Amino acid sequence: MTTGDANADCGGDETEADRVVCVRGRSVGLAVVEVDDAELLHRWRSDPVAAHELGIWPRSLGALRERVERDAEDDSRDDFLVLLPDGTPVGYAALSDQDMVNGSAEVELMTAVEHRGRGYGTDALDALVDLAFGELPLHRLVAETHTSNAPALAALARSGFAREGVSRAACFHRGRRHDLAVHSLLRPEWERLERRRAREVGGGSDA
Ligand SMILES: CC(C)(COP(=O)(O)OP(=O)(O)OC[C@H]1O[C@@H](n2cnc3c(N)ncnc32)[C@H](O)[C@@H]1OP(=O)(O)O)[C@@H](O)C(=O)NCCC(=O)NCCS
Repeated sequence: MTTGDANADCGGDETEADRVVCVRGRSVGLAVVEVDDAELLHRWRSDPVAAHELGIWPRSLGALRERVERDAEDDSRDDFLVLLPDGTPVGYAALSDQDMVNGSAEVELMTAVEHRGRGYGTDALDALVDLAFGELPLHRLVAETHTSNAPALAALARSGFAREGVSRAACFHRGRRHDLAVHSLLRPEWERLERRRAREVGGGSDA
């Protein structure tokens, strides 16, 4: 595998309704985002809660499509669609800002509104974390979210992230400033987690 690009070796040997799944978690699998997923991502990003919590600026489908194309070429990030075993797409997860010198990366997560509250977000986060620490030489994962984003805070806590602090008034949208809670998970903490690891499909498995 080319370090810093989990997608480069995402050669899973199983398909979920024709999508190659790289990592299989408890209830979901991760498959590399394709350009044709832009429409789906555009719909999910238009959900008011997601737009608010992620600070998404409205953009056209064409612009998002171009962005997905650019991201696919960007070695510092890996973007995944979250799929159920029957191939139903339920969300998006990404490892962005990968810095292989410092061993750090940021996690991004979104569940489609109609699939929230069923554990898929937490499962996807666990699978992403297992990919990050199991397949890449990363040491530190960071997640930032509004201090008021209860579902995200719960998912991060359940996945083992620790709260480092608050970046006060760190972002501005919808007419006011918001505090961001900064969370991180370090490799030794991940190694101590007692949960079953997500299984890399087609590669080494510690499940
Ligand atoms: C955050 C998000 C990804 C969680 O996805 P999900 O599929 O609903 O997650 P889960 O079903 O695994 O639930 C995660 C936790 O949130 C809790 N939760 C779910 N909905 C909730 C709500 N409306 N209020 C409070 N807690 C809630 C769940 O009970 C669970 O906590 P628990 O494990 O302690 O019981 C989803 O809400 C989302 O996409 N939000 C918009 C984008 C966003 O905020 N991204 C996160 C940026 S870090």
